Amino acid sequence: MNAKILGTGSYLPEKVVTNHDLARVVDTSDEWIYERTGIKERRQANATETVAYMGHQAALAALSHAKMTPQDLDMIIVSTTTPTHNFPSTACQIQGMLQARQIPAFDITAACAGFIYILSIAHQYIKAGAAKNVLLVGVESMFRLCHPDDRSTLVLFGDGAGAVIVSASEEPGILASDIYADGKDGHLLKCHVVNREHETPQRHGTIEMQGNDVFKIAVRELSNLVKASLEQNNIEPADIDWLIPHQANLRIIRAVAKKLNMSLDKVVLTLDRHGNTSSASIPIALDEAVKSNRVQPGQTLLLEAFGGGFVWGSALIKY
Ligand code: ACO
Repeated sequence: MNAKILGTGSYLPEKVVTNHDLARVVDTSDEWIYERTGIKERRQANATETVAYMGHQAALAALSHAKMTPQDLDMIIVSTTTPTHNFPSTACQIQGMLQARQIPAFDITAACAGFIYILSIAHQYIKAGAAKNVLLVGVESMFRLCHPDDRSTLVLFGDGAGAVIVSASEEPGILASDIYADGKDGHLLKCHVVNREHETPQRHGTIEMQGNDVFKIAVRELSNLVKASLEQNNIEPADIDWLIPHQANLRIIRAVAKKLNMSLDKVVLTLDRHGNTSSASIPIALDEAVKSNRVQPGQTLLLEAFGGGFVWGSALIKY
């Protein structure tokens, strides 16, 4: 059985935060941010736009696009590193809001690669015949994890949600999904859980990142990954209609596209407007590309992501 994407949806908070806005609170500038990252602005969730709320909105849009109701779902998987609760999981909260049936619902944490992880899990369940219609949601409230005084992280991230319905199908859909992890360099990009039992250092609960090292490892692993994935599946770079990368940094995306000899006009880019929305970035970019008719049925898509852990992965999709 194949696993095919039948619907996409997304939700972005209304509040826009521009580089100029950030330059008023930390020592930075629009030029520095744009030149180093490709980011112009990002969205910031307000108090009512919780991860469950944003994920629910994206899920409703994906269900409507797939012409399905919540009752059609037999699994919900959410990727988030910014839940509001340790439990209930964000997936259970969204299940409740959707009034879906008593089906499995759970969260996965794989930082910026989280969406590729949940796509891969759905792929395996559907291939095994254990699920038919799976709702996937990547949702993040990244602003909450950035220290308000830390210009090196505050300028990079944004909030939002993307959702996808993956269903069992006779037609080809997800051709391959590959996920990897290597914990040995995890200290280069981390965010502690705030722990009440111990004295809380100032930076606890916010992102700590050696940006330069993360950049180099991300470029190295993603370049190796996309080449290996295409070779294993006998697909030439020229056969890829769209590269839909995790939207972290335009320089990382350019390096990966160059490895594939792809021009940037075959790359779906949203980071200029959304910043890095971590595990929400790929499903948001996919939804935008689908709804603007750039991604067409039958086209071949390559999705890839890298994030804290380190974790990384890719998926080849016949849309
Ligand atoms: N505004 C102005 N100056 C800044 C800012 C800022 N917002 N942030 C850092 N600087 C300064 C630094 O203090 C440093 O100053 P110094 O030379 O006086 O010491 C200088 O700019 C250069 O800093 P670097 O960290 O070397 O700058 P770099 O070119 O590496 O760019 C960046 C930083 C954009 C973070 C880059 O390393 C990067 O994108 N790394 C990848 C990290 C990433 O994307 N993480 C997200 C999660 S993982 C993922 O999604 C892939």
